[in-house]
Amino acid sequence: MSIIVFGSINLDLVARTAHIPAPGETIVGQHFATLPGGKGANQAVAAARLGLPTELVGRVGSDQFGELLLQSLSLSGVGCAGVTVDSTTHSGVALIAVDDASENSIIVVPGANGQVGASDLQRLYSLLPQAKVLLLQLELPLSVVIAAAKAAKQIGVTVIFDPAPARPDLPSELYPLIDIITPNQIEAGQLAGFEVNSLATAQQAAAVLHQQGVGTVIIKLGQQGAVCLNQGESFEIPAFPVKAVDTVAAGDCFNGGLAAGLAAGMNLRAAMRQAAAAAALSVTRAGAQPSLPTRAELDRFLASFDLQI
Ligand code: ATP
Ligand code: RIB
Repeated sequence: MSIIVFGSINLDLVARTAHIPAPGETIVGQHFATLPGGKGANQAVAAARLGLPTELVGRVGSDQFGELLLQSLSLSGVGCAGVTVDSTTHSGVALIAVDDASENSIIVVPGANGQVGASDLQRLYSLLPQAKVLLLQLELPLSVVIAAAKAAKQIGVTVIFDPAPARPDLPSELYPLIDIITPNQIEAGQLAGFEVNSLATAQQAAAVLHQQGVGTVIIKLGQQGAVCLNQGESFEIPAFPVKAVDTVAAGDCFNGGLAAGLAAGMNLRAAMRQAAAAAALSVTRAGAQPSLPTRAELDRFLASFDLQI
C-alpha cells in the first residue's frame, strides 16, 4: 500500500439550518442526513478515491453506525484490516450544523476513537514499513498520535499531520517528527499564538511553526487557497473558483489529495494543486465522504479548468 491513515471514524449527523443556533436558542432545521465522516476516515477515502492503495487503522463501536461506516470505507476502496470493532463503547459521532452561508459548526463525541491505544499502534507498526505516507490528525488520543509519528519518522515514512480539531497545547517533541503540517487558519492561529486572517499573517504563522522544527508548513485558508513554507521558500496555491455549498471535509479532502500526489511521486507544488482541486470539487457537494471526488471526476475538473485559462 502507499498511504496509511491512523485516525478517527465518525458517523456525521448533519442538519441544514438557516443559521447556526446561538447558545440557548432552538431553531427548526431544513434537512437532516446521516453520512460517513471522521477526519481519519475522510482522508483515507479521499486518497483511495484518487486511486492510491490506502489502509486505515482505527476503531468503530459494535453498533449499527460501526457497520455502516465499515461498509462505506470498503466501498470506497479503503483497506480496513486495521480497523477494530470495540465492544466497550459506541462509534464516534459528529453533530454537524451547516448554515445557508455554507459555514459549519461541529460537536465530535469520540466514542471508539477515544479508546485507540497500544493494540492499534501494534497494527499500525506492522503496516508502516509498506507505506510511503502516514496521515495523522487530532481525533485520537494525543499520546498514540505522537507514538505513530515517532515510528514513521524512524523508518523514513513521510508524516503529514493535520492539527485538527484545534488545540493550542501540542508538545514541542511532536514538531520535529512531522514532515508536513497542515493547519487551517484557526488551528494555525492557536499554534502560532496570534490571529491568522490573511496571507501575510499565515506566512508569519508558517515561519513560527517552521522554527518549532517542522520541515514543511501548509496553511489552509479556505477560499483564499493555501500558503506553503518549504525549506525557506514561501509560495501560494490559490483556491479553484467554485460555488461552495458545504465545506465540511474540505480540509480532509485537501490532505488526502496531497498524500495521494506525493505518494504517486508528484513534487510538492503539483501535489498541492491536486489537493486544492480535489478540495474545491468537494465543497460543491454536501456531506463529508459523499463529497470526495474520484480520480475520473478530478481529471475532468482539472481538464475543464485548463480549458478555461
Ligand atoms: P474543514 O471545513 O474540513 O474543517 P478546513 O478548515 O480544514 O476544512 P479549509 O481551509 O476550509 O480547510 O479548506 C481546505 C482547502 O480546500 C483550501 O485550502 C482550498 O484549497 C479548498 N477550499 C476550501 N473552501 C473552498 C472554496 N469555498 N472554494 C474553493 N476551494 C476551497
Ligand atoms: O473534518 C470533517 C470531519 O470532522 C467530519 O466528517 C466530522 O466527523 C468531524 O470529525
